[in-house]
Amino acid sequence: MKSKIKIAFVGCGFVSDYYMRTMAHYPILDLVAVYDQDVERAARFSKYYHIPFCHTYEEILHNPEIDLVVNLTTPQSHYLVSRQALLAGKNVYSEKPFTLDQDQSEELILMAREKGLRISGAPCAFLSTGARQLMAELHAGTIGQPRLAHIEMEDGPIHLMGPDKWKNNFGIPWPVESEFTLGSGLEHLGYALSWAIFLFGSVERWMGASSCVLPSKKIGAEVFSSIDYSVAVLKHRSGVVSRITCGIVAPKDRGITIVGDKGYLRLDDMWDNNAPVKKLIFTERRLKADRKAYIAGTWLGRRLFGLNPKKCKNRISTGQPKKWAQSNNMKMDYLLGVHDLAEAILYDRPPQISPEFVLEVNALTLQINNQRIGDEIVY
Ligand SMILES: NC(=O)c1ccc[n+]([C@@H]2O[C@H](COP(=O)([O-])OP(=O)(O)OC[C@H]3O[C@@H](n4cnc5c(N)ncnc54)[C@H](O)[C@@H]3O)[C@@H](O)[C@H]2O)c1
Repeated sequence: MKSKIKIAFVGCGFVSDYYMRTMAHYPILDLVAVYDQDVERAARFSKYYHIPFCHTYEEILHNPEIDLVVNLTTPQSHYLVSRQALLAGKNVYSEKPFTLDQDQSEELILMAREKGLRISGAPCAFLSTGARQLMAELHAGTIGQPRLAHIEMEDGPIHLMGPDKWKNNFGIPWPVESEFTLGSGLEHLGYALSWAIFLFGSVERWMGASSCVLPSKKIGAEVFSSIDYSVAVLKHRSGVVSRITCGIVAPKDRGITIVGDKGYLRLDDMWDNNAPVKKLIFTERRLKADRKAYIAGTWLGRRLFGLNPKKCKNRISTGQPKKWAQSNNMKMDYLLGVHDLAEAILYDRPPQISPEFVLEVNALTLQINNQRIGDEIVY
Protein backbone atom coordinates (compact mmCIF):
# COMPACT_ATOMS: atom_id res chain seq x y z
CA MET A 1 0.00 0.00 0.00
CA LYS A 2 1.10 3.58 -0.68
CA SER A 3 2.25 5.58 2.30
CA LYS A 4 2.09 9.02 0.67
CA ILE A 5 -0.21 10.93 -1.63
CA LYS A 6 1.57 12.91 -4.31
CA ILE A 7 -0.01 16.30 -4.74
CA ALA A 8 0.37 19.29 -7.05
CA PHE A 9 -0.67 22.87 -6.40
CA VAL A 10 -2.29 24.69 -9.30
CA GLY A 11 -2.20 28.41 -8.53
CA CYS A 12 0.85 29.90 -6.81
CA GLY A 13 -0.79 33.09 -5.64
CA PHE A 14 -1.20 34.63 -2.21
CA VAL A 15 -2.91 31.71 -0.52
CA SER A 16 -0.51 29.00 -1.70
CA ASP A 17 1.89 30.30 0.94
CA TYR A 18 -0.70 29.67 3.69
CA TYR A 19 -0.96 26.07 2.51
CA MET A 20 2.77 25.63 3.09
CA ARG A 21 2.72 26.77 6.71
CA THR A 22 1.76 23.39 8.17
CA MET A 23 3.04 21.08 5.42
CA ALA A 24 5.66 19.60 7.74
CA HIS A 25 2.91 18.26 10.01
CA TYR A 26 1.49 15.96 7.36
CA PRO A 27 3.97 13.29 6.31
CA ILE A 28 1.44 11.65 3.97
CA LEU A 29 1.33 14.79 1.80
CA ASP A 30 4.09 14.84 -0.78
CA LEU A 31 4.05 18.08 -2.79
CA VAL A 32 5.86 17.12 -6.00
CA ALA A 33 5.04 19.99 -8.38
CA VAL A 34 3.38 23.38 -8.71
CA TYR A 35 1.96 25.26 -11.67
CA ASP A 36 0.56 28.73 -12.31
CA GLN A 37 -0.49 30.25 -15.62
CA ASP A 38 1.72 33.14 -14.50
CA VAL A 39 5.07 31.35 -14.84
CA GLU A 40 6.89 33.98 -12.82
CA ARG A 41 4.69 33.22 -9.82
CA ALA A 42 5.30 29.47 -10.12
CA ALA A 43 9.04 30.14 -10.36
CA ARG A 44 8.98 32.33 -7.25
CA PHE A 45 7.12 29.67 -5.27
CA SER A 46 9.56 27.05 -6.52
CA LYS A 47 12.59 29.10 -5.54
CA TYR A 48 11.25 29.85 -2.07
CA TYR A 49 10.01 26.34 -1.20
CA HIS A 50 12.36 24.22 -3.36
CA ILE A 51 9.51 22.45 -5.14
CA PRO A 52 9.76 21.88 -8.91
CA PHE A 53 7.42 23.96 -11.06
CA CYS A 54 5.83 23.12 -14.42
CA HIS A 55 5.49 25.43 -17.40
CA THR A 56 2.15 23.97 -18.51
CA TYR A 57 -0.85 22.42 -16.76
CA GLU A 58 -0.52 19.45 -19.12
CA GLU A 59 2.75 18.48 -17.41
CA ILE A 60 0.79 18.02 -14.18
CA LEU A 61 -2.16 16.36 -15.86
CA HIS A 62 0.02 13.87 -17.74
CA ASN A 63 2.21 13.03 -14.76
CA PRO A 64 0.95 9.57 -13.69
CA GLU A 65 2.61 9.96 -10.28
CA ILE A 66 0.34 12.82 -9.19
CA ASP A 67 -2.73 11.61 -7.26
CA LEU A 68 -4.28 14.87 -6.20
CA VAL A 69 -4.58 18.36 -7.69
CA VAL A 70 -5.04 21.15 -5.13
CA ASN A 71 -6.85 23.94 -6.95
CA LEU A 72 -5.67 27.28 -5.56
CA THR A 73 -6.58 29.39 -8.57
CA THR A 74 -8.91 32.39 -8.63
CA PRO A 75 -12.61 31.49 -8.16
CA GLN A 76 -13.33 32.20 -11.85
CA SER A 77 -10.90 29.41 -12.79
CA HIS A 78 -12.00 26.82 -10.22
CA TYR A 79 -14.44 24.97 -12.47
CA LEU A 80 -12.15 24.59 -15.50
CA VAL A 81 -9.04 23.67 -13.52
CA SER A 82 -10.93 21.08 -11.43
CA ARG A 83 -12.69 19.71 -14.51
CA GLN A 84 -9.43 19.24 -16.41
CA ALA A 85 -7.92 17.47 -13.41
CA LEU A 86 -10.85 15.06 -13.14
CA LEU A 87 -10.75 14.37 -16.88
CA ALA A 88 -7.08 13.47 -16.48
CA GLY A 89 -7.96 11.04 -13.68
CA LYS A 90 -6.76 13.17 -10.76
CA ASN A 91 -8.50 13.55 -7.40
CA VAL A 92 -9.31 17.19 -6.64
CA TYR A 93 -9.32 19.51 -3.64
CA SER A 94 -10.57 23.02 -4.46
CA GLU A 95 -10.39 26.33 -2.65
CA LYS A 96 -13.71 28.08 -2.08
CA PRO A 97 -16.09 28.98 -3.60
CA PHE A 98 -16.12 25.53 -5.17
CA THR A 99 -17.47 27.06 -8.40
CA LEU A 100 -19.45 30.19 -9.23
CA ASP A 101 -22.32 28.21 -10.76
CA GLN A 102 -24.16 25.41 -8.97
CA ASP A 103 -24.75 23.44 -12.19
CA GLN A 104 -20.98 23.37 -12.70
CA SER A 105 -20.47 22.22 -9.10
CA GLU A 106 -22.94 19.38 -9.61
CA GLU A 107 -21.25 18.44 -12.88
CA LEU A 108 -17.86 18.14 -11.13
CA ILE A 109 -19.26 16.00 -8.32
CA LEU A 110 -21.01 13.72 -10.82
CA MET A 111 -17.90 13.48 -12.95
CA ALA A 112 -15.79 12.49 -9.93
CA ARG A 113 -18.34 9.86 -8.91
CA GLU A 114 -18.49 8.37 -12.42
CA LYS A 115 -14.70 8.22 -12.63
CA GLY A 116 -14.27 6.76 -9.14
CA LEU A 117 -12.27 9.82 -8.03
CA ARG A 118 -12.43 11.76 -4.77
CA ILE A 119 -13.33 15.43 -4.67
CA SER A 120 -13.56 17.85 -1.79
CA GLY A 121 -12.96 21.47 -0.96
CA ALA A 122 -12.43 24.36 1.42
CA PRO A 123 -13.31 25.76 3.89
CA CYS A 124 -11.99 23.13 6.27
CA ALA A 125 -11.58 25.09 9.52
CA PHE A 126 -14.27 22.97 11.18
CA LEU A 127 -11.90 19.99 11.13
CA SER A 128 -9.87 21.84 13.77
CA THR A 129 -9.16 20.86 17.34
CA GLY A 130 -11.42 23.68 18.56
CA ALA A 131 -14.30 22.34 16.48
CA ARG A 132 -13.87 18.82 17.86
CA GLN A 133 -13.79 20.23 21.37
CA LEU A 134 -17.00 22.16 20.66
CA MET A 135 -18.66 19.02 19.32
CA ALA A 136 -17.50 17.03 22.36
CA GLU A 137 -19.16 19.58 24.69
CA LEU A 138 -22.38 19.37 22.70
CA HIS A 139 -22.31 15.57 22.86
CA ALA A 140 -21.55 15.68 26.58
CA GLY A 141 -24.77 17.66 27.08
CA THR A 142 -22.98 20.59 28.74
CA ILE A 143 -25.65 23.06 27.57
CA GLY A 144 -28.47 20.52 27.16
CA GLN A 145 -30.31 20.53 23.86
CA PRO A 146 -28.78 23.09 21.48
CA ARG A 147 -31.45 25.41 20.09
CA LEU A 148 -29.82 28.44 18.54
CA ALA A 149 -26.45 29.49 17.18
CA HIS A 150 -24.98 32.85 16.22
CA ILE A 151 -22.15 32.36 13.77
CA GLU A 152 -20.26 35.53 12.89
CA MET A 153 -17.85 35.80 9.98
CA GLU A 154 -17.10 39.50 10.22
CA ASP A 155 -13.57 40.16 9.02
CA GLY A 156 -13.44 43.87 9.87
CA PRO A 157 -13.18 46.85 7.48
CA ILE A 158 -10.39 45.37 5.34
CA HIS A 159 -10.32 48.41 3.01
CA LEU A 160 -9.03 50.52 5.92
CA MET A 161 -6.17 48.11 6.68
CA GLY A 162 -3.97 48.87 3.67
CA PRO A 163 -4.56 45.50 1.98
CA ASP A 164 -2.84 46.74 -1.21
CA LYS A 165 0.42 46.50 0.74
CA TRP A 166 -0.04 42.94 2.02
CA LYS A 167 2.35 40.37 0.59
CA ASN A 168 2.93 36.71 1.33
CA ASN A 169 6.32 35.19 2.24
CA PHE A 170 7.50 34.93 -1.35
CA GLY A 171 6.31 38.38 -2.34
CA ILE A 172 2.89 37.80 -3.96
CA PRO A 173 0.42 40.62 -3.18
CA TRP A 174 -2.98 39.97 -1.62
CA PRO A 175 -5.42 39.98 -4.57
CA VAL A 176 -7.32 43.18 -3.75
CA GLU A 177 -9.02 43.42 -7.14
CA SER A 178 -10.25 39.85 -7.13
CA GLU A 179 -11.37 39.83 -3.46
CA PHE A 180 -13.17 43.17 -3.68
CA THR A 181 -14.77 42.47 -7.04
CA LEU A 182 -16.20 39.14 -5.95
CA GLY A 183 -17.21 40.53 -2.56
CA SER A 184 -17.36 39.12 0.93
CA GLY A 185 -20.38 36.90 0.26
CA LEU A 186 -18.64 34.70 -2.31
CA GLU A 187 -15.32 34.91 -0.50
CA HIS A 188 -16.42 34.30 3.09
CA LEU A 189 -19.98 32.96 3.43
CA GLY A 190 -18.57 29.45 3.03
CA TYR A 191 -16.79 29.71 6.37
CA ALA A 192 -19.92 30.49 8.36
CA LEU A 193 -22.06 28.03 6.39
CA SER A 194 -19.61 25.15 6.71
CA TRP A 195 -19.46 25.55 10.50
CA ALA A 196 -23.26 25.74 10.71
CA ILE A 197 -23.79 22.60 8.63
CA PHE A 198 -20.95 20.75 10.33
CA LEU A 199 -22.39 21.49 13.79
CA PHE A 200 -26.12 21.06 13.17
CA GLY A 201 -26.50 19.19 9.90
CA SER A 202 -28.19 19.87 6.62
CA VAL A 203 -30.39 22.94 6.15
CA GLU A 204 -34.14 22.42 5.71
CA ARG A 205 -35.26 26.02 5.17
CA TRP A 206 -33.51 29.35 5.14
CA MET A 207 -33.86 33.02 4.43
CA GLY A 208 -30.98 35.33 3.72
CA ALA A 209 -29.59 38.01 1.49
CA SER A 210 -26.61 40.25 0.85
CA SER A 211 -25.95 43.91 0.28
CA CYS A 212 -23.34 46.54 -0.36
CA VAL A 213 -23.74 48.72 2.72
CA LEU A 214 -20.57 50.74 2.08
CA PRO A 215 -20.30 51.54 -1.65
CA SER A 216 -17.27 53.78 -1.17
CA LYS A 217 -14.65 51.25 -0.12
CA LYS A 218 -11.51 52.94 -1.41
CA ILE A 219 -8.24 51.07 -1.80
CA GLY A 220 -5.46 53.06 -3.44
CA ALA A 221 -7.07 54.81 -6.38
CA GLU A 222 -9.90 52.27 -6.76
CA VAL A 223 -13.38 52.38 -5.28
CA PHE A 224 -15.23 49.10 -4.78
CA SER A 225 -18.96 48.68 -4.37
CA SER A 226 -19.25 44.91 -4.24
CA ILE A 227 -21.15 42.86 -1.64
CA ASP A 228 -19.80 43.58 1.83
CA TYR A 229 -22.54 42.23 4.10
CA SER A 230 -24.63 39.05 4.15
CA VAL A 231 -27.02 37.69 6.72
CA ALA A 232 -29.02 34.46 6.83
CA VAL A 233 -31.16 32.43 9.19
CA LEU A 234 -30.99 28.69 8.69
CA LYS A 235 -33.38 26.07 10.02
CA HIS A 236 -31.43 22.81 10.20
CA ARG A 237 -33.13 19.43 9.86
CA SER A 238 -31.99 18.76 13.43
CA GLY A 239 -34.33 21.58 14.55
CA VAL A 240 -31.52 24.01 15.49
CA VAL A 241 -31.77 27.54 14.11
CA SER A 242 -28.54 29.31 13.23
CA ARG A 243 -28.08 32.94 12.28
CA ILE A 244 -25.02 33.71 10.26
CA THR A 245 -23.55 37.06 9.36
CA CYS A 246 -20.64 37.69 7.05
CA GLY A 247 -19.03 40.92 6.03
CA ILE A 248 -16.14 43.32 5.74
CA VAL A 249 -17.65 46.44 7.28
CA ALA A 250 -18.44 45.62 10.92
CA PRO A 251 -15.60 45.12 13.44
CA LYS A 252 -13.84 41.75 13.34
CA ASP A 253 -15.84 38.99 15.01
CA ARG A 254 -15.38 35.38 13.99
CA GLY A 255 -17.10 33.95 17.04
CA ILE A 256 -19.60 31.14 17.40
CA THR A 257 -22.14 31.11 20.23
CA ILE A 258 -24.36 28.08 20.70
CA VAL A 259 -27.30 28.43 23.05
CA GLY A 260 -28.95 25.41 24.64
CA ASP A 261 -31.52 24.75 27.37
CA LYS A 262 -28.93 24.94 30.13
CA GLY A 263 -26.48 27.62 28.94
CA TYR A 264 -24.21 28.52 26.09
CA LEU A 265 -20.91 27.52 24.51
CA ARG A 266 -18.59 30.00 22.88
CA LEU A 267 -15.69 29.65 20.45
CA ASP A 268 -14.12 33.06 19.97
CA ASP A 269 -12.44 32.61 16.59
CA MET A 270 -13.45 30.05 13.96
CA TRP A 271 -10.13 30.72 12.17
CA ASP A 272 -8.08 29.68 15.18
CA ASN A 273 -7.33 25.99 14.96
CA ASN A 274 -6.79 25.75 18.72
CA ALA A 275 -9.45 28.23 19.89
CA PRO A 276 -10.57 27.27 23.39
CA VAL A 277 -14.22 26.47 23.98
CA LYS A 278 -15.90 28.37 26.80
CA LYS A 279 -19.17 27.74 28.58
CA LEU A 280 -21.64 29.60 30.73
CA ILE A 281 -24.37 27.67 32.52
CA PHE A 282 -27.60 29.56 33.19
CA THR A 283 -28.73 29.99 36.81
CA GLU A 284 -31.46 32.33 38.02
CA ARG A 285 -28.93 34.21 40.18
CA ARG A 286 -26.56 34.68 37.27
CA LEU A 287 -29.20 35.72 34.77
CA LYS A 288 -30.73 38.24 37.17
CA ALA A 289 -27.29 39.68 38.02
CA ASP A 290 -26.57 40.10 34.33
CA ARG A 291 -29.54 42.51 34.08
CA LYS A 292 -28.20 44.77 36.82
CA ALA A 293 -25.79 47.37 35.48
CA TYR A 294 -24.05 47.84 38.84
CA ILE A 295 -23.09 44.15 38.80
CA ALA A 296 -22.73 43.29 35.11
CA GLY A 297 -21.00 46.59 34.38
CA THR A 298 -18.11 46.02 36.75
CA TRP A 299 -15.17 43.67 36.56
CA LEU A 300 -15.67 42.55 40.20
CA GLY A 301 -19.41 42.07 39.82
CA ARG A 302 -18.95 39.91 36.75
CA ARG A 303 -16.36 37.83 38.57
CA LEU A 304 -18.35 37.39 41.77
CA PHE A 305 -21.49 36.36 39.91
CA GLY A 306 -19.69 34.23 37.30
CA LEU A 307 -20.97 36.21 34.32
CA ASN A 308 -17.97 35.54 32.10
CA PRO A 309 -17.91 32.24 30.22
CA LYS A 310 -15.29 29.84 31.57
CA LYS A 311 -12.89 27.72 29.54
CA CYS A 312 -14.07 24.11 29.24
CA LYS A 313 -11.59 21.47 30.25
CA ASN A 314 -9.88 19.75 27.33
CA ARG A 315 -11.81 16.70 26.18
CA ILE A 316 -9.72 16.33 23.04
CA SER A 317 -6.08 15.45 23.29
CA THR A 318 -4.19 16.60 20.24
CA GLY A 319 -0.79 15.96 18.88
CA GLN A 320 -0.92 19.21 16.96
CA PRO A 321 1.76 21.62 18.09
CA LYS A 322 0.42 24.94 19.30
CA LYS A 323 3.43 27.02 18.40
CA TRP A 324 2.95 27.03 14.65
CA ALA A 325 -0.45 28.58 15.11
CA GLN A 326 0.98 31.69 16.71
CA SER A 327 3.40 32.45 13.89
CA ASN A 328 2.48 35.18 11.43
CA ASN A 329 -1.02 35.62 12.85
CA MET A 330 -1.98 32.49 10.95
CA LYS A 331 -4.04 30.34 13.23
CA MET A 332 -6.03 28.45 10.63
CA ASP A 333 -4.58 25.25 9.23
CA TYR A 334 -5.36 25.33 5.50
CA LEU A 335 -4.10 21.79 4.98
CA LEU A 336 -6.67 20.08 7.23
CA GLY A 337 -8.97 19.52 4.25
CA VAL A 338 -6.23 18.39 1.87
CA HIS A 339 -5.00 15.97 4.52
CA ASP A 340 -8.54 14.68 5.07
CA LEU A 341 -8.88 14.02 1.34
CA ALA A 342 -5.43 12.43 1.10
CA GLU A 343 -6.35 10.03 3.93
CA ALA A 344 -9.62 9.25 2.16
CA ILE A 345 -7.69 8.31 -1.00
CA LEU A 346 -5.07 6.35 0.91
CA TYR A 347 -7.51 4.36 3.04
CA ASP A 348 -10.31 4.22 0.48
CA ARG A 349 -12.89 5.93 2.67
CA PRO A 350 -15.11 8.98 2.08
CA PRO A 351 -13.57 12.32 3.06
CA GLN A 352 -15.02 14.06 6.11
CA ILE A 353 -15.72 17.01 3.81
CA SER A 354 -18.00 15.00 1.56
CA PRO A 355 -19.07 16.05 -1.96
CA GLU A 356 -22.65 16.47 -0.68
CA PHE A 357 -21.39 18.80 2.03
CA VAL A 358 -19.38 20.82 -0.50
CA LEU A 359 -22.44 21.09 -2.76
CA GLU A 360 -24.72 22.30 0.03
CA VAL A 361 -22.23 24.95 1.19
CA ASN A 362 -21.72 26.10 -2.41
CA ALA A 363 -25.45 26.26 -3.19
CA LEU A 364 -26.25 28.33 -0.10
CA THR A 365 -23.24 30.60 -0.68
CA LEU A 366 -24.41 31.42 -4.20
CA GLN A 367 -28.06 31.87 -3.25
CA ILE A 368 -27.46 34.08 -0.20
CA ASN A 369 -24.91 36.10 -2.18
CA ASN A 370 -27.25 36.58 -5.13
CA GLN A 371 -30.31 37.60 -3.12
CA ARG A 372 -30.31 41.36 -2.32
CA ILE A 373 -31.38 42.75 1.06
CA GLY A 374 -34.43 44.88 0.32
CA ASP A 375 -35.51 42.89 -2.71
CA GLU A 376 -38.74 40.99 -2.57
CA ILE A 377 -37.68 37.57 -1.37
CA VAL A 378 -38.86 34.74 -3.58
CA TYR A 379 -38.09 31.23 -2.34
N1 LIG B 1 -6.18 35.57 -0.31
C1 LIG B 1 -6.62 34.99 0.79
O1 LIG B 1 -6.39 35.52 1.90
C2 LIG B 1 -7.37 33.70 0.71
C3 LIG B 1 -7.66 33.04 1.90
C4 LIG B 1 -8.36 31.85 1.83
C5 LIG B 1 -8.77 31.35 0.62
N2 LIG B 1 -8.50 32.01 -0.53
C6 LIG B 1 -8.96 31.43 -1.80
O2 LIG B 1 -7.84 30.87 -2.45
C7 LIG B 1 -7.98 30.99 -3.87
C8 LIG B 1 -6.78 31.71 -4.43
O3 LIG B 1 -6.69 32.95 -3.79
P1 LIG B 1 -5.36 33.80 -3.81
O4 LIG B 1 -5.50 34.80 -2.75
O5 LIG B 1 -4.17 32.92 -3.79
O6 LIG B 1 -5.49 34.51 -5.24
P2 LIG B 1 -4.32 35.02 -6.18
O7 LIG B 1 -4.97 35.85 -7.22
O8 LIG B 1 -3.24 35.63 -5.36
O9 LIG B 1 -3.73 33.70 -6.82
C9 LIG B 1 -4.45 32.91 -7.72
C10 LIG B 1 -3.46 32.37 -8.73
O10 LIG B 1 -4.14 31.49 -9.61
C11 LIG B 1 -3.55 31.65 -10.90
N3 LIG B 1 -4.52 31.17 -11.89
C12 LIG B 1 -5.73 31.69 -12.21
N4 LIG B 1 -6.33 30.95 -13.15
C13 LIG B 1 -5.47 29.94 -13.45
C14 LIG B 1 -5.53 28.85 -14.34
N5 LIG B 1 -6.58 28.64 -15.13
N6 LIG B 1 -4.48 28.01 -14.38
C15 LIG B 1 -3.40 28.22 -13.58
N7 LIG B 1 -3.30 29.22 -12.71
C16 LIG B 1 -4.33 30.08 -12.64
C17 LIG B 1 -3.25 33.13 -11.00
O11 LIG B 1 -2.25 33.39 -11.96
C18 LIG B 1 -2.81 33.46 -9.59
O12 LIG B 1 -1.41 33.40 -9.42
C19 LIG B 1 -9.32 31.70 -4.10
O13 LIG B 1 -10.29 30.75 -4.35
C20 LIG B 1 -9.59 32.41 -2.78
O14 LIG B 1 -10.96 32.55 -2.53
C21 LIG B 1 -7.79 33.18 -0.51
